[in-house]
Amino acid sequence: MKSISSAPAKIILFGEHFVVHGVKALLCTIDKRVIVSSNQIDEKVIKIKSTLGNLSTNISSKSIDEQKNPLKPFLYIARKILEKNNTNSGIEIEINSEIPIGVGLGSSSACCVAAAASISGIFDKLSREQILKLAIEAEREIFQKTSGADCAVCTYGGLIEFNAKEGFSNLESKMDFSLVIANSKETHSTNHIVHKVQDFKDKHQELFSSFCDKENMIIEKALGALEENNLVVFGQLMSKNQDLLDQLGVTTAKLRNLVNVARGTSYGAKITGAGGGGCIIGLVDDSNLDNTLANLKNQDSECFVSKIDYNGLT
Ligand code: MEV
Repeated sequence: MKSISSAPAKIILFGEHFVVHGVKALLCTIDKRVIVSSNQIDEKVIKIKSTLGNLSTNISSKSIDEQKNPLKPFLYIARKILEKNNTNSGIEIEINSEIPIGVGLGSSSACCVAAAASISGIFDKLSREQILKLAIEAEREIFQKTSGADCAVCTYGGLIEFNAKEGFSNLESKMDFSLVIANSKETHSTNHIVHKVQDFKDKHQELFSSFCDKENMIIEKALGALEENNLVVFGQLMSKNQDLLDQLGVTTAKLRNLVNVARGTSYGAKITGAGGGGCIIGLVDDSNLDNTLANLKNQDSECFVSKIDYNGLT
C-alpha cells in the first residue's frame, strides 16, 4: 500500500529566535510543498530517496554514519512507526520537494510533518496532533532546540500564533496581502544560528531580555493591526522586528541590503527564519507588488511572490 502526504513551506512573520526563548511568534504557510510517499516492502530495510540524498539501512541497525546524516529524522519516524506496529517488514520512502533547502522556509519541518503523516498512514491514520508530536521529536534528532513553531504551522497551515509553552491557535484575518520572498542564496544552519543567539543571550542577559520585551510588544501590536486590517502598521512592525534581529547579529550584509531594497517600496521587510543567510520577506499588496519584485530581482536574489496557503498537511 502506498501512503502519500504533503506539507507546505512556512514563513515567520514575527518572532523567530525570540520564540525559542518563550516569546510568541506569528507564522503562516505558503504554496510551496513537499510530497512524501511511503510504501511497505518485504525487505527488512528502510530506503529513502530524496534531494538530500539516498539511504538504505537495516530496520534495526544504527550505524555511526547515521549520526550526522540529514535524513536521520526520517529514519527516526520510520523506526518508531515500524516498532509501534510490531512489524518486521521494511519501508521505502520518497521525498519530493519544491521548497528550497536551508533558506528559512521550513523545508526540514515540512518534510518531517509530511513524512510522519505518510509513513504512519501505511498502518493507521494518526491525528494531526499525533503527527505534529512525532514530527517535532524527529526534527529534534538534528535540531535539539527547536521551538516546534515551524512544525506546528506546517501541520495546521494558514496563519498561526505560536507560543512554545501555551501552544498555538489559528488566526482569522481579512487582511489581504502578498509576500515578496527573496532568497539571498546564502544557505545557513538553523542549529548554528540558534546557538549563536544563545551565546548572545548568555553574554548580554539584560539586553536580550529587553529585546524579548520589545518583541512581545511588537507582536501584540501586530495582532492588533491584523484585526484592524492595517497593512501599513503591520509592515512598519515587521521592519521594527527586523531591527531587533539585526541587533541580535543574525543578518548578513546581503540580507541587510535585500531588506533595505524591499523597504523602499513595500510596507515593511525583514528576514524570515533563522537568518545568517536564507530569505527575506517584503509585505505588499497589488499597489506595490510589481515594483518590489522588480527591485529585488535586480539584486542577485531568487524572488517569488506568495500568499497564505490555508491547506496545511494533506
Ligand atoms: C527557524 O525557522 C525559527 C527559529 O526561531 C528556530 C525555532 O523556532 O525553532 C530560529
